[in-house]
Amino acid sequence: MTTKDTNGAEWITFGPYVLFPGPRALKRDGKSVRIRDKPLDLLIALVESPGDILSASELAERVWRREWVEESTVRATVYALRRLLGRTSEGEDYVRNTVGRGYGFSDSIRIERSAPDPKVDRQSAAPATVRAPGRLPPLLKPVIGREREILKVIDLLGRNRLVTITGLGGIGKTTVAISSASRLLETEPEACFVDLALVKEERLVPASVAGALGSERPAECPSSYVLGRLSDRRLLLVFDNCEQVADMAAAFAEAILREAPHVKMIVTSREPLRADGEVVFRLDGLTYPPQDTDIRAEDALAFSAVQLFVDRASAASPEFVLTDALAPMVARICRRLDGIALAVQLAANRVPSFGVRGVEARLDDRFRLLGNGQRTAAPRHQTLEGALDWSYELLTPPESALFTRLATFHDTFTIAAAAEVAGLPPIGKSDIEALLAKLVEKSLVVFVGDTPIPTYRMLETVRAYARERLRTAGEDAAVVERHACLASESSE
Ligand SMILES: Nc1ncnc2c1ncn2[C@@H]1O[C@H](COP(=O)(O)OP(=O)(O)OP(=O)(O)O)[C@@H](O)[C@H]1O
Ligand SMILES: [Mg+2]
Repeated sequence: MTTKDTNGAEWITFGPYVLFPGPRALKRDGKSVRIRDKPLDLLIALVESPGDILSASELAERVWRREWVEESTVRATVYALRRLLGRTSEGEDYVRNTVGRGYGFSDSIRIERSAPDPKVDRQSAAPATVRAPGRLPPLLKPVIGREREILKVIDLLGRNRLVTITGLGGIGKTTVAISSASRLLETEPEACFVDLALVKEERLVPASVAGALGSERPAECPSSYVLGRLSDRRLLLVFDNCEQVADMAAAFAEAILREAPHVKMIVTSREPLRADGEVVFRLDGLTYPPQDTDIRAEDALAFSAVQLFVDRASAASPEFVLTDALAPMVARICRRLDGIALAVQLAANRVPSFGVRGVEARLDDRFRLLGNGQRTAAPRHQTLEGALDWSYELLTPPESALFTRLATFHDTFTIAAAAEVAGLPPIGKSDIEALLAKLVEKSLVVFVGDTPIPTYRMLETVRAYARERLRTAGEDAAVVERHACLASESSE
């Protein structure tokens, strides 16, 4: 194995392959291999550091640079490259996938390269080899709606240094954060994006931030490295998908705000960090038409969830057109999916198989219907159920017990009603209020508003999920019975 980079190398061999970075060509056993631009750039980036593991966002930065790209596209490109290269004679993949961390070129494959040409200007070498850690990931598809929310985030960040965008899984937090940050780059000198979705251990948060800031090797004390690098820098820092490492993200964000007076931060998380100085912006679903309207296509298209549905349905089946006949159905689908961007998108993808009417008819079994999204999406975005599993798995046992039992409420409920129905072991009735507040924080229950008695509700999709969980826990009958007693008492 060699650690020299490809800059200036005329050729690089591995197995039966010869890669020519300059003329951008690949040969196998002396014959040219047809390879598209992005897989080629990806190969160059990977061969540059055999044995290292590069996260999807690092690869996106190196390969796509200024374009918007989703993690799913990186995955798809890696997959295409692996298929193209095939396996070594020992049956090994050239490109390894280390689950939860990223991709790397196998370090057990012998790589040889020509000596670098001293005439090559290293700064102007192949673009794919330029390291640009922390660059904002490009969004591959246009962002629909969200203008008001983006302006709100920008406004909040004008007056505060830490804004956390919270909301249910798949509702669109990352999309709004990236859009706001790229808009802010019109005035801010630079931004650094840290995707924490794959970071499962709290202690690894500082190292991930250090990596995004360009630390080549794991620093001995990544926190000090980061704080040192940021102390006098004017920077917009984006921490994306923090909920599973919220404690460390909060502590680290506080330290950054303290030590680096010119840094501003946008955080996305399904629950607030509860950090000092944090302002929380709760993101709702995309907009959808009001109930029971016989809406025309033109009017329905004023709502962003409908626009997203139509956009994705047309991409999945080019002949799709939103007619006046279809508009009320699409409006109902968007409403029943509470405008959750991921759900609307998954539903639109099913139009070629079932038609709009068929999709609506299958919404009662929504987790089966919305169970096969893009193979290349992040695991928690491949299915609607996966998006909610991610939140469910982060609940404590009493929180998950309350969460599933609340599924028996079809509409709004009060704290007293929740205690009546759900206050059985492992939950004491006196715990309900605090647990309910936790579920609101975690975006699984909605606080309806400051009515004389506080009321709560679940979004239809969340409720359907909780119901399934209640059934699997075998508690369905008992809780439904308690709910029925409550209903009959209150009607007496
Ligand atoms: N306004 C929008 N326009 C177009 N697509 C959108 C929009 N909002 C979200 N999406 C799409 O919906 C999916 C989910 O969005 P996103 O990743 O932003 O959700 P999230 O709230 O960050 O989810 P998670 O909690 O799982 O991190 C993505 O595929 C994204 O591209
Ligand atoms: Mg996200």
